[in-house]
Amino acid sequence: MAKRFLLLLLPLFSAILLIAVTVAESETYSKRKPFGVHEPESFTHLHFYFHDVLSGDKPTAIRVTNPPVTNTSFGVVVIADNLLTEGPDPSSKEIGRAQGLYASTDMKTLSFTMVFNLAFTEGEFNGSTVSMYGRNPILSKVRELPIIGGTGEFRFARGYAQAETYKLDGFNAVVEYNIFIRH
Ligand SMILES: *[C@@H]1O[C@H](CO)[C@@H](O)[C@H](O)[C@H]1NC(C)=O
Ligand SMILES: *[C@@H]1O[C@H](CO)[C@@H](O)[C@H](O)[C@H]1NC(C)=O
Repeated sequence: MAKRFLLLLLPLFSAILLIAVTVAESETYSKRKPFGVHEPESFTHLHFYFHDVLSGDKPTAIRVTNPPVTNTSFGVVVIADNLLTEGPDPSSKEIGRAQGLYASTDMKTLSFTMVFNLAFTEGEFNGSTVSMYGRNPILSKVRELPIIGGTGEFRFARGYAQAETYKLDGFNAVVEYNIFIRH
């Protein structure tokens, strides 16, 4: 009789055991250090100039769609591999490239959806990248875009970018960027 009672309880014991093991395991996982060598929570401010060159003899950005004409250029998509420099002059020191695309996605105002990988080629961030994705209403003075990730020195990156047009020359623009990143 007692033996049969114990047998009945057996599934209950194994369920409790399973829960105990699961709790122990999730604790172990939560104590794990992030993959790779990484100091959690550094803070970095980056300042540079972005050169969006659509015309001239060496364009780095090309328009790839030809939508019906509207006053907001709705539907235009541009693919870019734009130069990033220390100063506003394109001949100043190159610190990386902005590789990605922007698309005119607002029917009422001139605003782009930006999808960019900022690939750095200089100093301690050489080889590291930052991913920027956001809305860019280019007629506003300062635009804010989220930083949603990164690689290398910028693993686990979170932050924001502030973009301000420095100079316009026809379709070409020099844009000043300040980026604030926790990583
Ligand atoms: C585009 O036209 C619409 C409708 O006429 C107007 O409300 C809007 O302000 C215009 N946008 C721009 C960027 O000129
Ligand atoms: C950046 O890293 C690449 C690849 O490791 C290397 O070839 C290049 O010389 C480095 N550039 C600078 C400026 O350190």
